[in-house]
Amino acid sequence: MKVQILVIFGGTGDLAMRKLLPALYQNHREGALPDGMRIVGVGREGLERNSYLDKVRDALRQFLPATDFDDAQWTTFSARLEFVQLDARVSADYARLAAMLRWQDSRGHIFYLATPSELFIPICTELNRAELVSATSKVVLEKPLGHDLPSAQRINREVGAIFREQQIYRIDHYLGKETVQNLFALRFGNGMFERLWNRDGIRDVQITIAEQVGVEGRGAFYERTGAMRDMVQNHLLQLLCILAMEPPLSLEADAVRDEKLKVLRSLKPLSAVDVARQTVRGQYTAGEMHGAPVAGYLDEPDIRADSRTETFVALKVELNNWRWAGVPFYLYTGKRLQSRVAEIVVNFRDVPHSVFGSPGTDSQGNRLVIRLQPDESLKLYLMTKAPGDEMTVRPVSLNLEFSSAFSTRRRDAYERLLLDVIRGRLTLFMRGDELDAAWQWVDPVIDAWRGQDPPEPYVAGGGGPDAALALLAQGSAAPCDA
Ligand code: BG6
Repeated sequence: MKVQILVIFGGTGDLAMRKLLPALYQNHREGALPDGMRIVGVGREGLERNSYLDKVRDALRQFLPATDFDDAQWTTFSARLEFVQLDARVSADYARLAAMLRWQDSRGHIFYLATPSELFIPICTELNRAELVSATSKVVLEKPLGHDLPSAQRINREVGAIFREQQIYRIDHYLGKETVQNLFALRFGNGMFERLWNRDGIRDVQITIAEQVGVEGRGAFYERTGAMRDMVQNHLLQLLCILAMEPPLSLEADAVRDEKLKVLRSLKPLSAVDVARQTVRGQYTAGEMHGAPVAGYLDEPDIRADSRTETFVALKVELNNWRWAGVPFYLYTGKRLQSRVAEIVVNFRDVPHSVFGSPGTDSQGNRLVIRLQPDESLKLYLMTKAPGDEMTVRPVSLNLEFSSAFSTRRRDAYERLLLDVIRGRLTLFMRGDELDAAWQWVDPVIDAWRGQDPPEPYVAGGGGPDAALALLAQGSAAPCDA
């Protein structure tokens, strides 16, 4: 029987242990993995297969909901697992992987590169040299892809010389989140919103990804990356794309990606002056989370004492196109903030004339709040008369809580995206030109920051830098809207 093999480079790393292997286990438990499919973890550590299995089992116990792990499922899941010791930059080590893969009669391997992006080119080159790449192989590249436009272009070019574009899966796990896909349903399944979904109907939009976690032991990675490259270049811009894109012809991969690309290309470039006016960077200082003291960014391991890396970014962004000209999109993300919230707030325009008297009564009236996490929901605020003798109106929301509307378990983003890779569905992955367009817009902002003041300090556990609140106050939405 021909079997499929998924090879995970970075197989002992943080992402594999926290996300990929738990997601694969869940897919296995639900019977969604192809029969006989094997998973080969690849890492530098010299581990026996059994020690690798112990490590994976511990990770599943730690990162899965307690009721989802059971011994019977583990026994069948672990039968799929292998481990190969390999240093990505050492050619000779690939012979060990080749021996393992040839031992199976495989139908095209999947190579998941859960490694820093500096290793993407060496790994693909070595896989090719070891004759492990065929027309049916696939390669999955984790974000951030590259460090800037030239490095991303180089990855696209050199990986593209080995794998065709249809074989390359550039992953952004935000696209695998259930509510993000619900955005497609909301926008393209409900005609009522389309009439309003433009500069005439919408005053501004705010996209927030606020996190409580700090850099979680990834100091060395974060120092090189910062919030702009870690969150804005990919997750936030992708959310913006789905929110702002024109209706695609279908949900076929290129139809969707063509429209997302147009949004990225219409991002209004920010000059150095705009950067000073329309962006805020922050860096957390020591504070308190959940009643316990937490260290400031500069005191985290592997961080330079004089680091200017931003752990927070707020940006006012505009799109140069007919649908959105003049509508501000506020993007807001940071670590060590008060609450963990990812949400999109769409503020509709006020009525042209208020018949209720008091000025300002209508502001913040109609808005749509799409919450991605922690609890997935849609809230549509409508102006409603408050009970009583007076004609007083206030916004009240229609609520759709996904957990009460649908009782089925929702797949984690990685579960869905891994299945999409296995099934060959590219719609929820970024194309090379999208990546280029995103870097093209992001690079000048990062360059302009170099000549400006260091990031503004904000206390861990708080609401972010004051300047960010001032920037957002230019719009109408409060951050972390409830
Ligand atoms: C990752 C970033 O891509 O996304 C992390 O590298 C961040 O820094 C994470 O914490 C957030 O993802 P989620 O799904 O927990 O919101």
